[in-house]
Amino acid sequence: MAGFSMKIYPDNAVIMAPLAGYTDLSYRRSCRRHGCFYAFTEMVDTGSLVYSSRNTRKFLDRGAEEEWLGTQIVGCKLNEIEKSIEIINEHDFNVLDLNVGCPTPKVAKKGKGAGLAKDPEHVAKIIELMVKKSRAPVTAKIRIQDTTDPEKTVSLAKKIEEAGAQALTIHGRLLSAIYSGTCYADIISAVRENLKIQIIANGGVMDKDSYNKLKVDSGCSEIMIARGAMGNPWIFEEIKNDKSVIPSTEELANELELHIVETIAYYGENFGCKLCRKLILDYLKGRGFSGEFKSGVVKLSTVEEFKNFMNDLRKGPTERYKKWLKKNSNLQFESFV
Ligand SMILES: Cc1cc2nc3c(=O)[nH]c(=O)nc-3n(C[C@H](O)[C@H](O)[C@H](O)COP(=O)(O)O)c2cc1C
Repeated sequence: MAGFSMKIYPDNAVIMAPLAGYTDLSYRRSCRRHGCFYAFTEMVDTGSLVYSSRNTRKFLDRGAEEEWLGTQIVGCKLNEIEKSIEIINEHDFNVLDLNVGCPTPKVAKKGKGAGLAKDPEHVAKIIELMVKKSRAPVTAKIRIQDTTDPEKTVSLAKKIEEAGAQALTIHGRLLSAIYSGTCYADIISAVRENLKIQIIANGGVMDKDSYNKLKVDSGCSEIMIARGAMGNPWIFEEIKNDKSVIPSTEELANELELHIVETIAYYGENFGCKLCRKLILDYLKGRGFSGEFKSGVVKLSTVEEFKNFMNDLRKGPTERYKKWLKKNSNLQFESFV
């Protein structure tokens, strides 16, 4: 509420970003096993929530053990947003966030997500409505609007602050950059200096070093992690202890197996197995597994096949993984040989 501002996140909070197609209950559980506390559901399209699918409502599921959970809406029509908040209010969330950053053409071209940023007045109207209707505190997530001049991003951020949002996450990349290239932390820093509400920096955190760098460059104490946690929930431990964490093959397999079992239990074999294929590839990525081993993953389609795959994985480490580990961490390698 205006004039009654409390910080949403404590200093140095590390926040797991909303990731469409990923941050469901089993995904968050995997991150939480490694120390993640602040997490979001996937983005929830207000149209789908109001007009149709049971699947979208599933996005709002909250595990009994989840102490802190935010949700995020993506939409632009005020009537739809109002109705979706009524549905969301039946649930318990710590934050309701507005997505002003999604670059997917079918979202942004319809004036939703990153497409909203073209009309800051309308963003302000949405935030005002959210503040009026939502049980949970309201926040927003935007992208930078220019890579050299902070003015446009500052002015969008100010509109959001004035409309009553209590915190703002800034992804330091343009809409046109999608998810690649430099994260312009200096623009985030300029916004932070011009706003009163809490600013959370996001973009390019893949390990403790990039985390520390984003903190310094943006001046923000609160950081949001996205792709850095995909297939690597250990990043939360790594950041907490400021010490590299490279899981052993057994740790990798144990975590992956739990994640798979929970995903299949949550969605059923059909959709669950489909999701698990991409999860496995994330876990194997960049860890030195052979292309041949990875190419087997796309064929997995039953629980039985997943079990066999996990057995193969446990037989590791492969020679390549061993070499990769040796190159990356001599200490960890000792325990394998
Ligand atoms: C697969 C995928 C799904 C995403 N889904 C969402 C989403 O639902 N809501 C959102 O605000 N951002 C979403 N993002 C953007 C991330 O939250 C984050 O802003 C972006 O990836 C930059 O951070 P990073 O460089 O640490 O990955 C998504 C990104 C990816 C790669």
